[in-house]
Amino acid sequence: MTRRLDVIVWVAIAIAPRAASAQWMDLSVPERPVADAASIAAGRRLYEERCWFCHGEDGDGTGPVAEYLWPRPRDFTLGSYKLRTTSSGELPTDEDLFRTVSLGIPGTAMPEWQSVLSEQERWQVISYIKTFAEGLFEDEDFDPYAFIVEIGSPPEGSTEALVAEGQPVFDEADCWECHGSLGRGDGERASELTDDWDFPILPTDLHTGWKIKGGSTPREIYLRLSTGLDGTPMPSYSETLSEDDRWRLAYYVSSLAAPLAGAPATGVVITARRVDDSLPTTPDDAAWADVPATWLTLSGQATFPPRWQIPAVSDLAVQVLYNATDVALRLRWDDRFMDTVSVDSALARREGWEANDMFPRLFPDGARMRATHPDGVEVMFPLRYAGRPELPHFVYGSAGQPVDLWRWRADRAGGPTAVELRGRGASQPPEPHEPESQRASARATWADGQWTVVLRRPLTTDDGAREVQLEPGRIIPIAFHVWEGANGETGLKMALSSWYFLHLRESARASSYLVVLLLVLGTVGAEYGLIVWLRRQRDSGWLSRFGITPGPDDARRPS
Ligand code: HEC
Ligand code: HEC
Repeated sequence: MTRRLDVIVWVAIAIAPRAASAQWMDLSVPERPVADAASIAAGRRLYEERCWFCHGEDGDGTGPVAEYLWPRPRDFTLGSYKLRTTSSGELPTDEDLFRTVSLGIPGTAMPEWQSVLSEQERWQVISYIKTFAEGLFEDEDFDPYAFIVEIGSPPEGSTEALVAEGQPVFDEADCWECHGSLGRGDGERASELTDDWDFPILPTDLHTGWKIKGGSTPREIYLRLSTGLDGTPMPSYSETLSEDDRWRLAYYVSSLAAPLAGAPATGVVITARRVDDSLPTTPDDAAWADVPATWLTLSGQATFPPRWQIPAVSDLAVQVLYNATDVALRLRWDDRFMDTVSVDSALARREGWEANDMFPRLFPDGARMRATHPDGVEVMFPLRYAGRPELPHFVYGSAGQPVDLWRWRADRAGGPTAVELRGRGASQPPEPHEPESQRASARATWADGQWTVVLRRPLTTDDGAREVQLEPGRIIPIAFHVWEGANGETGLKMALSSWYFLHLRESARASSYLVVLLLVLGTVGAEYGLIVWLRRQRDSGWLSRFGITPGPDDARRPS
């Protein structure tokens, strides 16, 4: 049993991926059937197959995997729900539960069930989870349908005007105390908040729109501002803000969320531009403003123990420039807390907070975890990539396929700002290069809940095959790792990307494209979308210049 559970657990508790396009309010809910004893019994069977190991046999949120999750699975016994169309403190409607169970909760372990359970099964399991809150849902005084919040319509004005009017409301209503002045979740109260079950909870980073649980459209945010998220410190503003102000605020918050609301899907190739003169070396150099950013998705390192299911950083913006001699990468990501280890570990100790450096069982007995580790970021290249259409293992390569790493860490105020290391697999930490071949440098700033780091290195070095050599015109595999110290991240407890491809753009050489195509085909070729894309390119003749023509299987023969 335990063994089987393990397998289920590691598959199941991966953080739910980005929301599909249907957001919470948009989901069309079919008419709700009347629940009877038979449907509740059917719901129980489904629950005991699908839900119990997170939500607990008795629905109290203490399933065997609960303590590996953050946020924890809902305790159904109190009838307290975050996502509702009903007023603060009231029960959710069945339709509300249907929306949540169908779509899951993005950015948490709560999976979507619409692709797994039929509509009827979802209604059945809902009728069962309601029975955990003894008597509450049957009590007519608590009939949720009597408390549905009305969603009127926004005040007159263009979207831009409403966004502009919403910003001062954000300031006046003290949203910034928790969400930070720019909404990145870094407000002064961010580190002290707990939920109704006494577990730490963080204010949402309003810029990572895809993680807004109840959806990021103005209408959905209006609803959430009106209902609050029960069980959390996020209150309802029905009593304190007028309807019009809630609408203005909703438009403003939605505008913050917009750039990352859906899947960013900027492709697998990061294009680096060539500049003729010197490279910008500081994070806030105006020259970066014109360089397009590629947004990458990161996930927890869950391949090797300690497996990390709750990475704090999910989105990383990458910009790259190069000149005749050097390459510079500008990396940006949201991070609520600036962790430069010495300061924060002292603070953590003074406040009596525990570091959790063990297997990631989270907050035992509600204990807080706080920074004992610095923030950091790292770029990874295969040591050798040319003419070899195979990629090293995405967690630090292997002995046969080593990787080169350029690492910045926030604790190096006095020392070297970047370190070059070589990785030979996840079983031992990467080793620094010899001092004479340390050539990478870094500059970093943290402001309003965001790190910006510029990493720089000569394109080529005289260490030949012992370091990665970046040749303009080629397409070079590249991957990224980020650590958020305040989230207890260090070593293999990190957020990582899969392999991307850095293209130091020049006049195109056909052979370089061919290499990337082979790499792509060989490694992520299983991704159906990509194959379809490649087929389409092939069929359109775009790839014929590389000798790739429509195959015999689906060749359209001239008639
Ligand atoms: C892998 C673990 C996991 C499984 C399996 C799981 N859940 Fe959840 N569920 C969660 C977590 C975690 C949350 C809390 C998310 C949050 O608080 O943001 C949650 C929250 C919920 C909520 C509360 C939403 C709200 O508005 O507060 C409902 C309802 C729910 N789950 C139903 C189900 C049902 C029904 C099943 C089985 C069909 C199920 N869950 C299976 C992890 C899980
Ligand atoms: C006392 C702290 C606090 C204040 C003040 C506060 N929030 Fe929140 N807010 C939170 C927390 C904590 C969450 C995360 C809840 C969760 O993830 O379960 C949250 C979540 C949210 C969400 C995401 C909802 C979702 O569906 O996931 C939005 C939007 C939001 N807040 C907007 C605001 C706005 C606008 C204001 C000011 C009117 C505000 N908040 C004031 C603590 C606060």
